[in-house]
Amino acid sequence: MDGSQAPGGFSSHGSSPGALPRFPPGFVWGVSTSAYQIEGAVDEDGRGRSVWDAFVERAGRVKDGSDGRVATGHYHRYREDVALIKELGAGAYRFSVAWPRVMPDGGPRVNAAGLDFYDRLVDELCAAGVRPVPTLFHWDTPEAVEAAGGWLERDTARRFAAYADAVAARLGDRVDRWITLNEPAELTLLGYGLGVHAPGRELGFEALPVAHHLLLGHGLAAQALRARGADNIGIANSHGPTWAASESAADQEAAGLYDLLLNRLFAEPVLLGRYPEEELTAPLLSGAGPVDEDLRIIGEPLDWYGVNYYQPTKVGAPAPEGTGAVGFAGIELPPGLPFAPREIEGHPLTDFGWPVVPEALTELLTGFRDRYGDRLPPVVITENGCSYEGVEDQERIAFLDGHLRALHDAITAGVDVRGYFVWSLLDNFEWAEGYARRFGLVHVDYGTLARTPKASYHWLRDALRAQR
Ligand code: NOJ
Repeated sequence: MDGSQAPGGFSSHGSSPGALPRFPPGFVWGVSTSAYQIEGAVDEDGRGRSVWDAFVERAGRVKDGSDGRVATGHYHRYREDVALIKELGAGAYRFSVAWPRVMPDGGPRVNAAGLDFYDRLVDELCAAGVRPVPTLFHWDTPEAVEAAGGWLERDTARRFAAYADAVAARLGDRVDRWITLNEPAELTLLGYGLGVHAPGRELGFEALPVAHHLLLGHGLAAQALRARGADNIGIANSHGPTWAASESAADQEAAGLYDLLLNRLFAEPVLLGRYPEEELTAPLLSGAGPVDEDLRIIGEPLDWYGVNYYQPTKVGAPAPEGTGAVGFAGIELPPGLPFAPREIEGHPLTDFGWPVVPEALTELLTGFRDRYGDRLPPVVITENGCSYEGVEDQERIAFLDGHLRALHDAITAGVDVRGYFVWSLLDNFEWAEGYARRFGLVHVDYGTLARTPKASYHWLRDALRAQR
């Protein structure tokens, strides 16, 4: 963290970012993490097990056979990590609270020692002048809740709201900005639809009631937070533009369906209080209970809308025989889906193989503004980042520079964007990919747990100083 390490120019890599344009006054700059990906200490202080503790034990589910037992050791090193955030000059830190630490059995019993950890973390952040932005749920459903049906069960939404209340009761005096859920789309589709994430269910389209129960959980949790006085609440939904592979009707239809499932199904209940394309979605959601009544809760206006953006997706109709399983974002899709992702050419790829397309962030945000108009509250980018090896990570600098310019373009075009959080502060446990993907501004040596700020960390620190 020695200031002398600050990189000067990076012209040799063509990333040589000049000064970024100025962001609006009060713009929030932050970094993001999540509990299971960084904390470790899975057996400590009364933490219960989550679906991820169980999933990583199943052979072949995590590519490098790893797990989150130690991860980055953040549970014991949080002071060092808060110091890194402070030195970076970020004004906010998005972390997640682990439900199984707070309620080891999924409720109603509250484990005070589990809350103590977040209490210490929040105090440390406040002392460092960094605003804590907790996410209440980043995929680590307590195993006991899953055993009772998990998010396929309506009651899980109620249990989640009770947990939200317990967290707010403890942290609400120092936390003013809350995120209910992280990426319900991924949990629904990857965790319950395809089984490549925990809890590893392979229900295909029958997983969709999960989406509804997660969204209901969001709405009930937001109500619980408001009842405790919170008035700065958002959600972190993943979104990216969907590009049809061609003008053909079959490709357009396939892309429309993909956009419906990945973007609109999760945005519109929250923003508009209704599901899109009801003739398609209503049958899929049947069995999820009184959906219309729930939508009044789900659609209660939010203070801001969080967007996790990584990449656009090009989508076409499946191969005629309908069996063309294609690898996508590292995930092998099963045969028989009504759409097929296609390669996006002409853009650099991250180590993960994800195309780097900053201008798609502008397209996404202006598209949201055009589609949802004044139903779209101020937007916060709650995640954006990339995986690359090494601490001389010029590609990450180019990625961040390009995406921040694209974000600024969206602001110039009139989209009300209030903040930007980099994924991630630290290299961490990248779910089914294990430790192979490194998204951090700070390198973690998984042998010693030593933290080493990368070139991108120094670049961002300088960029943030220039914004002051
Ligand atoms: C989104 C998820 O919220 C986060 O947990 C994950 O590590 C990043 N995407 C990168 O894949």
